[in-house]
Amino acid sequence: MSAMTDSPRHFLDLSSFSEETLSRLLDRAAELKATRAPRDDLRGKTLALVFEKPSTRTRVSFELAMKELGGFTIVLSGKEMQLGHGESLGDTARVLGRYVHAVMIRTFDHAQVQEFARGAPMPVINGLTNFSHPCQVMADLLTVKERLGALKGRRVVWMGDGDNNVLTSWIQAGKIFGFTLTVCCPKELAPKPAALAGPVTVTHEPGAGLEGAEAVLTDTWISMHNADADRRRALLEPYRVDEARMKQAGANAMFMHCLPAHRGEEVTGAVMDGPQSAVWDEAENRLHAQKAILLWCFGKL
Ligand code: CP
Ligand code: NVA
Repeated sequence: MSAMTDSPRHFLDLSSFSEETLSRLLDRAAELKATRAPRDDLRGKTLALVFEKPSTRTRVSFELAMKELGGFTIVLSGKEMQLGHGESLGDTARVLGRYVHAVMIRTFDHAQVQEFARGAPMPVINGLTNFSHPCQVMADLLTVKERLGALKGRRVVWMGDGDNNVLTSWIQAGKIFGFTLTVCCPKELAPKPAALAGPVTVTHEPGAGLEGAEAVLTDTWISMHNADADRRRALLEPYRVDEARMKQAGANAMFMHCLPAHRGEEVTGAVMDGPQSAVWDEAENRLHAQKAILLWCFGKL
C-alpha cells in the first residue's frame, strides 16, 4: 500500500474540533444507534488497535464498530510488538501505514500519540493516554444528549481525582459546548495547567457545587498510569460518590462513570446500580460514538 497523499484525519483531542463538527459526529452516532444494522461504509478497510495498557470497552467497541461498518481489525499489544524492544513510534506508524488504513492507539504519554500521528500516513485515534480520553467523552456527551437534550448550559460536577485523563476531555468538551463544569477534588490532585483548557470552577471542599447538578461524574482514584495508590486513596476518601452525595445533587441528577468502576472506592455499589446511574448507557454508547469517529476519520461524514 502506498502512502496516502491527503492529510490524514486524526482524532487525538476534542480541543482540535469545532462545535459544528463534534455535533455532526454526535448526531450521526445517534442515527447509527437508532438504525443499528450491518453496513458497508468501511468495506475493505482495516483498523489496527495498539494497546500498551489493558482495555475491555475500548477494544470491544472499536472491534465491533469496525466490523458493523464492514471493515476489519487487527489487535496488537505494544509489549508483543517491536515497540516493546525499542522501535520508535514514528517508524512503527510509517510501517503500519503500509498495511492498514487507520490506527487506534492506547498508550502512556500523550506526546507519544502525537509523535505517532506525525509519522503516520493514515488517521490515528487516541484510545486513551495519561492526558486525555476523547473517545470516552464522545460517548458520554451522546449519553447526556439522550437524557437531557442540548449540551449548552448543562451543569456538570466532577468529584474525585482532578488529575485525570477523562476529566481533561470533559474540560475540553465544556469549552466547546458551553456547559458549566465544577471540579471537586483534593488540592494535591487538582487538574494540571495543561488540562485547564476551558472554563472550570475548581473547589476542594468535598461535595461543594453538587446542589442542582444535572450530571455527577467520577472515575477511578487510581488510573492505569498512577503509581501512588495508597496516597491517592487517603486523599480521595472524602470525595466518594455515595447515595448522600447523589441526594445532595437532586433526584434529577444522573451519575456517570467511564468504567471500570471500583465499587466502594470512588463510588458505592448503590449509586452504580441505582436509578440515577447512566453508566451502562455510557458503555453502550462507546460503540455508536466510535462508529461516527471512524466514519469521520475515513472522510465519510
Ligand atoms: N472506559 C474505558 O475506556 O474502558 P476500557 O479501559 O475497558 O477500554
Ligand atoms: N482514568 C482511567 C480511565 C480508564 C478507562 C485510567 O486511565 O486508567
